[in-house]
Amino acid sequence: MSDAISSTSEATRPQQATSDGFEVPRHVAIIMDGNGRWAAARGLPRVEGHRRGVVALRKTVRAAHDLGISVLTIFSFSAENWSRPQSEIRDLLSLLRRFIRNDLADLHKSNVRVRVIGEREDLSPDICDLLQEAEDLTRNNDGLTLVVAFNYGARQEIARAARRVAAEVAKGRLSADDVTPELLARHLDAPDMPDPDVIIRTSGEQRLSNFLMWQAAYSELIFVPINWPDFDQAALEAAIAEYRRRERRFGGLNASTGS
Ligand code: IPE
Ligand code: IPE
Ligand code: MG
Repeated sequence: MSDAISSTSEATRPQQATSDGFEVPRHVAIIMDGNGRWAAARGLPRVEGHRRGVVALRKTVRAAHDLGISVLTIFSFSAENWSRPQSEIRDLLSLLRRFIRNDLADLHKSNVRVRVIGEREDLSPDICDLLQEAEDLTRNNDGLTLVVAFNYGARQEIARAARRVAAEVAKGRLSADDVTPELLARHLDAPDMPDPDVIIRTSGEQRLSNFLMWQAAYSELIFVPINWPDFDQAALEAAIAEYRRRERRFGGLNASTGS
């Protein structure tokens, strides 16, 4: 990212409109899938797909920033991805390290706030320190919020939230009757983030794979057939255009037609 651009605080920011009146969702979440297939289709090793995936990520963060999206959540490594071969895990971890080391200063300059969701307890200290450094350095930025889901699983996140609530109940600070959806939501990993308006998954797979299952209750799901390394600003704009064609009802009726 190049230019540092300031904007209003994320909490107060309404849906953003670009100069041509193009409304963008406030929170876009992406399941960046298909790196391995991208590489296989070209006779390349999987790690090459992951490397190109980082390039696509850079482009997408810049595009989200330029489009005026408030929150971009990216699924970078799932709690279940530890079941991959050790060599691939090593490659993915070193790409994460490199991404933070190389891109953090630019992200900070561009007023991006980095947040991390997922379980940090079992991570190696150097990864934990890098994630913490990214959050600490960018804590006061109020442009795009980039939420990195790393060692993340939604069931694990919901269990963590339940554990936090149970601890409060055990201390007598809450009673069992206080446990509502709103209270549980306040104990998730990033409780101040709005729910995603739209979740995009690349590679043609049509599942959530344990991503943001609580927050996705009313998200629009968009599955795009291209593999993640081919994703760019045009693909993001196409997904947003599809989102704008959807009718969100939240269990009610269409506000204008009553049907
Ligand atoms: C997404 O690409 C990256 C991660 C899951 C970390 P994949 O590695 O899942 O690529 P495919 O799905 O095997 O093509
Ligand atoms: C989901 O992709 C996880 C990330 C994109 C980080 P996977 O490739 O791990 O999901 P499955 O195994 O196809 O469901
Ligand atoms: Mg995959």
